[in-house]
Amino acid sequence: MYIHNKSWMHCNIDSRIFHQRSRLLTFMHCIINQAAVTMSNFQMYRHIMNPGWTLGWSWAKKEVIWSMVGSQTTEQGDCSKFKGNVPHCCKKTPTVVDLLPGVPYNQQFSNCCKGGVVAAWGQDPSSAVSAFQVSVGQAGTSNKTVKLPKNFTLLAPGPGYTCGPAKIVPSTTFLTTDKRRKTQALMTWNVTCTYSQFLARKNPSCCVSLSSFYNSTITPCPSCACGCQNKKNCVKGRSKFLDMVGLHTPKRDNEPLLQCTHHMCPIRVHWHVKTNYKDYWRVKIAVTNFNYRLNYSLWTLAVQHPNLNNVTQVFSFDYKPLLAYQSINDTGMFYGTKFFNDLLMEAGPSGNVQSEVLLQKNKKTFTLNQGWAFPRRVYFNGEECMMPSPDTYPYLPNSSPVNVLNFPTFIISSLLLLALW
Ligand SMILES: *[C@@H]1O[C@H](CO)[C@@H](O)[C@H](O)[C@H]1NC(C)=O
Ligand SMILES: *[C@@H]1O[C@H](CO)[C@@H](O)[C@H](O)[C@H]1NC(C)=O
Ligand SMILES: *[C@@H]1O[C@H](CO)[C@@H](O)[C@H](O)[C@H]1NC(C)=O
Ligand SMILES: *[C@@H]1O[C@H](CO)[C@@H](O)[C@H](O)[C@H]1NC(C)=O
Ligand SMILES: *[C@@H]1O[C@H](CO)[C@@H](O)[C@H](O)[C@H]1NC(C)=O
Ligand SMILES: *[C@@H]1O[C@H](CO)[C@@H](O)[C@H](O)[C@H]1NC(C)=O
Ligand SMILES: *[C@@H]1O[C@H](CO)[C@@H](O)[C@H](O)[C@H]1NC(C)=O
Repeated sequence: MYIHNKSWMHCNIDSRIFHQRSRLLTFMHCIINQAAVTMSNFQMYRHIMNPGWTLGWSWAKKEVIWSMVGSQTTEQGDCSKFKGNVPHCCKKTPTVVDLLPGVPYNQQFSNCCKGGVVAAWGQDPSSAVSAFQVSVGQAGTSNKTVKLPKNFTLLAPGPGYTCGPAKIVPSTTFLTTDKRRKTQALMTWNVTCTYSQFLARKNPSCCVSLSSFYNSTITPCPSCACGCQNKKNCVKGRSKFLDMVGLHTPKRDNEPLLQCTHHMCPIRVHWHVKTNYKDYWRVKIAVTNFNYRLNYSLWTLAVQHPNLNNVTQVFSFDYKPLLAYQSINDTGMFYGTKFFNDLLMEAGPSGNVQSEVLLQKNKKTFTLNQGWAFPRRVYFNGEECMMPSPDTYPYLPNSSPVNVLNFPTFIISSLLLLALW
């Protein structure tokens, strides 16, 4: 058949937090015939969620895909000119999707078959990879090597992702299975894709609300934080509507079905400053899903707060510090504990996950004044959440957000609890 040489493709996806444009790297090696495509999601905390990725590209010439292992194209296209041996796909612009878990072993490839779901790098680098193999040939008689494909596109997860042109890089070498021979790809290329929250959607998709033990005010999410254009289609309270069959079925266009709230966000993150001990303080974090059409599998919550360098204990969630700016250790990622709360259920009674965090005070910087105890930035699944305006934060009685007084600590110390934790 048309298989002479090995060739490799890799797609890597990368992003730096706190940059509005996240980088997504994709690199691939290819030549004629067999190509291994590896997609690595280097985004620290944006995973590729159910229903998974869909990758498309355009062949430069008349290439066809003879066979695939670990994934498939969505359409075969017109292969009528082939007699007998019929290719897997003859389309000039193939669209590739991952296979579902549990396919027969002979259709599997390492790191394949996860229904296109790819974990965030910061959460689990070993699950942040998706791979498959394609065997490429040319329509017609030519056995020349494949030309660089064009127009790589991540059709899903969809808006927000843009891929640059493929760039030729030094060929990858790899060992044969018996490890006795080194072979080299004829050509290797690298595609970089980036993610931009602003390309993805006009409005944020989550918001933050705040409260504290020292003030009964609950600072809600800003009104219309996620845009109020869906207000007409939202679901009020626990209406009969919720029992309708098919309500929870995800729609093709991914349109959410939101519970009516003043913020109209699918996700709200609540940060409650719960207790102030002598050497420690405690925060309660709750994430609530207001979308009736989505379960968030493998969700992540990234938080920036100057005291996160002294996280002592995290209850119910898993936690990982993220060294965003090499030396500043003020950002961390929370995510669900496997099989316990790594699935954030659709809106309703179980549509929330909660945790408590115990932080050791750095006596020099710790204060309840001026909203210091509230997070600076919050990201849910890598999307920045809208914070309330600082002048609405709950503040200490008698202290004003404008007139800064170094509030005496006796108010706080009267609330000290003896080593409750
Ligand atoms: C292509 O095929 C022809 C004959 O079929 C052969 O002579 C030539 O070496 C092949 N070229 C490559 C690059 O394999
Ligand atoms: C690349 O994609 C764009 C938009 O989808 C399309 O207009 C263009 O013709 C494509 N180029 C090739 C070579 O297929
Ligand atoms: C592809 O690009 C990324 C980022 O620019 C780089 O880290 C990686 O080493 C490149 N791959 C190859 C094979 O050159
Ligand atoms: C969410 O998950 C639960 C349990 O797996 C399932 O019953 C429900 O239908 C799912 N909802 C959606 C919107 O997928
Ligand atoms: C960052 O903070 C965590 C605790 O949240 C700590 O375990 C880790 O050692 C710190 N890393 C650095 C480089 O300071
Ligand atoms: C907090 O973390 C910093 C840096 O990780 C460390 O130097 C310090 O000793 C820790 N403890 C306190 C109480 O600040
Ligand atoms: C609580 O904070 C709010 C600002 O969000 C402020 O208006 C109010 O006076 C504070 N309550 C007390 C008792 O100081």
